[in-house]
Amino acid sequence: MSKLIKNGTVVTAVDQYQADVLIENGIITQIGLNLSKEGAEIVDAAGHYVFPGGIDPHTHLDMPFGGTVTADDFETGTRAAAFGGTTTIIDFCLTNKGRPLSQSVQTWHQKATGKAVIDYGFHLMIAEINDEVLAELPKMIHEEGITSLKVFMAYKNVFQADDGTLYRTLIEAKRHGALVMVHAENGDVIEYLIKEALEAGNTDPIYHALTRPSLIEGEATGRAAKLTALAGSQLYVVHVTCEEAVQQIAEARNHGVDIWGETCPQYLMLDQTYLEKPNFEGAKYVWSPPLRPQYHQEALWTALKNGQLQTLGSDHCSFNFNGQKDLGLGDFSKIPNGGPCIEDRFSILYSEGVVKGRITLNQFVDIVSTRIAKLFGLFPKKGTIAIGCDADIVIFDPNVTRTISAETHHMNVDYNPFEGIVISGEPVTVLSRGEYVIRNKQFVGTAGAGQFVKRATYHAASRDEKSKNVEAVKGGATHV
Ligand code: URP
Ligand code: ZN
Ligand code: ZN
Ligand code: ZN
Repeated sequence: MSKLIKNGTVVTAVDQYQADVLIENGIITQIGLNLSKEGAEIVDAAGHYVFPGGIDPHTHLDMPFGGTVTADDFETGTRAAAFGGTTTIIDFCLTNKGRPLSQSVQTWHQKATGKAVIDYGFHLMIAEINDEVLAELPKMIHEEGITSLKVFMAYKNVFQADDGTLYRTLIEAKRHGALVMVHAENGDVIEYLIKEALEAGNTDPIYHALTRPSLIEGEATGRAAKLTALAGSQLYVVHVTCEEAVQQIAEARNHGVDIWGETCPQYLMLDQTYLEKPNFEGAKYVWSPPLRPQYHQEALWTALKNGQLQTLGSDHCSFNFNGQKDLGLGDFSKIPNGGPCIEDRFSILYSEGVVKGRITLNQFVDIVSTRIAKLFGLFPKKGTIAIGCDADIVIFDPNVTRTISAETHHMNVDYNPFEGIVISGEPVTVLSRGEYVIRNKQFVGTAGAGQFVKRATYHAASRDEKSKNVEAVKGGATHV
């Protein structure tokens, strides 16, 4: 059935205007004033914003990590995402050395199929480059539509790849039009610092932060940026937490390197002191990279405002406090790394960013949806409100305030790191390809209705994003 969203304020990354939006067969077919359509269901959006659905480029659902498995699977995780205004996620598909990439991708499809309530794509972790991986990569990128490759520079003896692997991944990504993503911390140095701390009897959660200083994130970010420049490739730095990393990204961008940066709500809102909470509660706030001293938050907000960082990911990686985080009682290095955020990413950025005057309403849409769609090959199908786009739409009430709490959230986890924080604005109705997932704040979606999205390659998707300077430096990409 067609739907007609009436009397709302349409907001995109560049515009804000009063208009009705007609949806037919899951696609936006008309935008204009005083639209009518016989038989269409009227959806009243008076007094509300009509946003493109949020796109979360960084989730870990149903993922084995730290001796356990993340608490949210593709059903609970995507349902919570929808409550929060997100209509597409891109999840990280883990791989193992010596195992065909296609098998890992199949495993991830099995996790998501029949469960996801919103659309989803995958990034592919690269642990090693060898003849088998080289042979499989073109198929993954061009046929499977998995056009972003993730390299971990940390988590020694678990996920960490060496610089040679990163460099060769950058070269292959350039050749085939993929975007390389890095977790930028120096895993070798961190391993040493952790050992030193534990030998000195320093076992509390705060030592997680103290053994992963911001200098080490800045160093790895700069190293990855330089390898990207050398390869003439493209890089997206996930979960940027600190001034040092922002500086490295900004400097590389100034030199024409094709590099992009993501931060997360936790780094904008919370600081290192949370890890000092008594009764092991600091474990709730263990992310890698860690929460930083408060002054870094200003650097991150400024970078989002001036475009040195471009996106916000949730890095949703939920573990229960009871039964999962407590694996690290007596040894901070065994606390599963990560926290829940998939539901709150969108509204936190609106409230803390737009309402507090740190970013504009258009920047909000860009950071939470449009830019992510462009970088990850989803645009223009997703990431904006325009004729021909998927009707992934959030009808948002800017006039309510609410308190974030584990009592009311929809994530399958027993705490919320933003507990007690009062925010302005709330998604009221959320559509995925024109179908209600959230209707008047109630879940009405269906497990399995979410579809896997094959994404376009980086070059095709973002050609218009590159400055002349970058084109000149790189001399264009070759495709094999
Ligand atoms: O602590 C974190 N960030 N956990 C999730 C895995 C990762 O490094 O993104
Ligand atoms: Zn190719
Ligand atoms: Zn990471
Ligand atoms: Zn992550």
